[in-house]
Amino acid sequence: MAQLWSKPPVPTAASTKPPRPLYTFLFIVILCILGFYTLHYAHSAPPLSTSQNALRLFLSAATNFTLSAYLRDLTLHPHLAGTKPSLRTTHYVLNHFTSLGLRAHAVAYDALLSYPTHSSLSAHFSNGTELVFPLSESTGSGSGNGNDAVVRPYHAYSPSGTARGAMAVFVNFGREEDYRALGGMGVNVSGCVVIARKGGGLPRAAVVERAALNGAVAVLLYTGGDRFRKGFERGTVMRGLGDPLSPGWAGVEGGEKLGLGDDEVSGRFPKIPSLPLSVDDAEVILESLGGAPTPSEWRDALDLKVDHVGPGPTLVDFDYQGEKKVVKIHNVFAVIKGLEEPERYVLLGNHRDAWTYGAVDPNSGTAALLDIARRFSLMMRSGWRPRRTIVLCSWDAEEFGMMSNPVTKSEKKSWEIGSTEWVEQNLVNLGSKAVAYLNVDCAVQGPGFFAGATPQLDNLLLEVIKKVEDPDSEGETMYQKWASRNSENNIERLGRVDSDFAAFVQHAGVPSVDMYYGADFPTYHTAFDSYDWMINYGDPSFKRHVAVAGVWGLLALHLADDPILPFNYISYAEQLKRHKEVLSNLLGGLVSLSPLSTSIQDFASAAKEAEIETQKLREQETTSELVVLKKRALNDRLIFAERGFLDTDGLEGRRWFKHLIYGPSSDPESKLDFFPGIADAISRTTRMSLSQKKAIIQHEVWRVARAIQRATSALRGELT
Ligand SMILES: *[C@@H]1O[C@H](CO)[C@@H](O)[C@H](O)[C@H]1NC(C)=O
Ligand SMILES: *[C@@H]1O[C@H](CO)[C@@H](O)[C@H](O)[C@H]1NC(C)=O
Ligand SMILES: *[C@@H]1O[C@H](CO)[C@@H](O)[C@H](O)[C@H]1NC(C)=O
Repeated sequence: MAQLWSKPPVPTAASTKPPRPLYTFLFIVILCILGFYTLHYAHSAPPLSTSQNALRLFLSAATNFTLSAYLRDLTLHPHLAGTKPSLRTTHYVLNHFTSLGLRAHAVAYDALLSYPTHSSLSAHFSNGTELVFPLSESTGSGSGNGNDAVVRPYHAYSPSGTARGAMAVFVNFGREEDYRALGGMGVNVSGCVVIARKGGGLPRAAVVERAALNGAVAVLLYTGGDRFRKGFERGTVMRGLGDPLSPGWAGVEGGEKLGLGDDEVSGRFPKIPSLPLSVDDAEVILESLGGAPTPSEWRDALDLKVDHVGPGPTLVDFDYQGEKKVVKIHNVFAVIKGLEEPERYVLLGNHRDAWTYGAVDPNSGTAALLDIARRFSLMMRSGWRPRRTIVLCSWDAEEFGMMSNPVTKSEKKSWEIGSTEWVEQNLVNLGSKAVAYLNVDCAVQGPGFFAGATPQLDNLLLEVIKKVEDPDSEGETMYQKWASRNSENNIERLGRVDSDFAAFVQHAGVPSVDMYYGADFPTYHTAFDSYDWMINYGDPSFKRHVAVAGVWGLLALHLADDPILPFNYISYAEQLKRHKEVLSNLLGGLVSLSPLSTSIQDFASAAKEAEIETQKLREQETTSELVVLKKRALNDRLIFAERGFLDTDGLEGRRWFKHLIYGPSSDPESKLDFFPGIADAISRTTRMSLSQKKAIIQHEVWRVARAIQRATSALRGELT
């Protein structure tokens, strides 16, 4: 083209106007140049097609006032799953998504939930007086709209039941060792109403089950520690997963349902009734007990003065009546379709239902999800589209789900019916197309950032928190604060079942992240979990909300936009090695761990190879079809390696749990929070002969070794 300009016609003095053909010619040339630039520009650098631009725009769109406004709207009324105000939040989230121009829809399920109809409690003291406990929280001005009907304190799925004039007895945490200690003192709890303190690693359902096994007729459970003393901690006491009437499949409308009388259903509910108790009410009863003196080991850790454990002389009248009802629950989704790989999904999820107002649990997370939607929609208006499809998920009825066993100290949650039903319904598509699931439940509970992940996401998590400002120390990144607090990179693992990630990791094998600010907030599951508490204590300036939304969104953007997925299996291999060390110390040579060592070594070398391949391909920025295909093939292997840890047969006796590295042990007092099959084998065989014990544990070790081999071969992507 340059030579066309080399001999321009020289304009004559008489006329500065070029001749007519020249006009036409120039016009064509300019068109060509414009066309070339347009094509070239559109091809190599359209506005915001690079993830760098997207990341920058996402971060610059952060605001605290939108977050606080969303939280206020969501927490105007208590919104227990299956109630009218809960439906209002369903519409609120759906409208938010659609008003932003996002494609959104709701999916309804029928689920069996449980509500109280009547409860009463009174104590008859030895001095002849009687005290009737009101069993309600006078929240006064300290909690949202004081007049709203907060559901009375109860345990979901508790059977109805009455006990009149039963002796009260204190059982500490209600663990097996606590009953042993009582037995040693000659205390028999048979026929008594047991008062237990929540904690000690035991979920509610397990406390009630142990009490029933020991002959108790009812349980009163209080939560000690740094609580609101007048608060009652609601929660579920069901065992098992998801909707009790559709175990293992999705409870869709018109789908198969078991009957309430079915053994598989009734076996999931406790045999004796229970109620939560406030610290104040527990104190009155506990102080009045006579009988055996409190063991000194219990006394040292107690926050209340309990000199005697009973039984009696205080007698208790206990009554709880509840109903189980099939109700509609709704999951809400917004889908941002990927441009290049629409059939790969990056999922962000948070539950929406709450025991009361839910300012912390879970709507601090919902507010963050809604803000991410706002920011993504803003980016879309500037021309951004993700490479892969992003799905924002708002789950229902998490609180009713269950907790088979919280293995870590941060036992704090029940779980998730909505997400379990959805994962069961979409298992094949998730298995073949889900890249990662990013969960946020109680986003902001107080100070301090906590995160959990399947280990191939560790590096990404640490990289992302280098880009987000710490909400509590000006001028520092979250990473700097994190590093100063955690000498090692203390990322939790996702073997717990205390939030919606459980079905994704433990049933579907999807790499996942979970995160939150603060731990053990004092208003947990009480009427005090309100917007007022948040602006007074939890996050007065909403900066922690901003930080969580920032990390959550950046994780999603990397996973959705990076041409090669930011997965690193070297950290997975290192984590597996550390797990093996812990196991080895625990077992002390009882069985051979060499199958495990061999498979971990092989996994480590496959991880190294994948990392080298990743580096090489990352340098090749060409858009040649071959390179693009190679990148996709590598991405698929990076995704499917996690699926390798799944086992078709699942855990012994609990087939729903397929993941052999991360899942809950069925023994709440187990020392292992990984390799759940091995943990179960250890607990199950304590009373067996040495040879039986060895054989059973050895078999579980082999199963884990084979799962790691499957992951290795998925990562290598070659047939043997
Ligand atoms: C406790 O009392 C019940 C009922 O009186 C009795 O059946 C049971 O055997 C006793 N338990 C122990 C360990 O003594
Ligand atoms: C009777 O005992 C209870 C429990 O110890 C105590 O709260 C109450 O004040 C006592 N009443 C009288 C009249 O002594
Ligand atoms: C947002 O942050 C600013 C600066 O810290 C603060 O003054 C303001 O009150 C915050 N807004 C809300 C709604 O919390």
